[in-house]
Amino acid sequence: MFSRETAAVPRVTVPLRRPGGRGPSRLRARKRRMNPVRAQDYWTESLARWAIPPEILEQGGESPWALPPWAFAESARLALSQPLTPTHLLALEVLPPGGHVLDVGAGAGAASLPLSERAAEIVAVDQSREMLREFSDLAAERVPVVTIEGTWPEAAGMVAVADVVVCANVAYNVPALGDFVVALTQKARAKVVMELTGAHPQSSLNWLWKHFWDLNRPEVPTADDAAAVVREATGLEVTVVAWPGREPLADRFGDEGVAWIRRRLCLPPSRDEELAQLLRSQDRPGRTAMVTLAWAGRGQG
Ligand SMILES: C[S@@+](CC[C@H](N)C(=O)[O-])C[C@H]1O[C@@H](n2cnc3c(N)ncnc32)[C@H](O)[C@@H]1O
Repeated sequence: MFSRETAAVPRVTVPLRRPGGRGPSRLRARKRRMNPVRAQDYWTESLARWAIPPEILEQGGESPWALPPWAFAESARLALSQPLTPTHLLALEVLPPGGHVLDVGAGAGAASLPLSERAAEIVAVDQSREMLREFSDLAAERVPVVTIEGTWPEAAGMVAVADVVVCANVAYNVPALGDFVVALTQKARAKVVMELTGAHPQSSLNWLWKHFWDLNRPEVPTADDAAAVVREATGLEVTVVAWPGREPLADRFGDEGVAWIRRRLCLPPSRDEELAQLLRSQDRPGRTAMVTLAWAGRGQG
């Protein structure tokens, strides 16, 4: 892990492999070389494959995609109390004392609040009012903040250029990733720092989809596909840093965490105990493989 005192992130660009082993990955890469697909199209089509079949969706009763703000508040509290991650360190490399930070899809602030000591102001954009409330509560007495409830990139017109733009754990929610990252790039004077899981954040539940619904879930897109979209959309060089994150967030919350996973699987509350037993019976993956992408900003003024 990286300590709060560490000044720089090792510039190792780690080659990313798709989950699912060498064979399918190589085959896909070869197919793509023979029949080149725009990185943006591949990203959009891959994300579309995560749609849940309507006949399953209607049985859940609650949205499987809803993100509980209390969980992300805990994530931000952990980020404030634990060593800085490569995301924070890459941002701090270019954030001047008294600098300005823009956090897009801020949630409760795990990516930006650890930069508070250096920052004069953090602007947080999020489509969720509840997330922004958690963000403001945690920011109080640390750093002045401005919160903007809105969807990126549509909300870009409401924010000024910042020294550093951070955007963590949002990319897999964004089919039109190219337009999204171009708007981030235009709002960053020095650098954009984008964090995401190496594989789709729901892929750790794929075995449970097979168990409960006999459904094979996708294994793409991955963080290297996101990096390809950034390169294609911005024409810029992208630094890629792979690092071990924490255990999956839902695993920290006992019964509430089980209920969150159950909602994601479109199951009724009556399946909680069965799901809890199943989760206990398996060797769960430990740390989540994380990736941070960083590239130059083009913001002026
Ligand atoms: C998984 S959470 C991550 C929160 C925080 N960045 C973190 O790493 O803990 C994703 C956040 O992005 C927000 N979000 C997703 N898509 C967005 C978009 N297009 N514009 C603004 N906010 C978005 C969600 O409301 C949610 O708060």
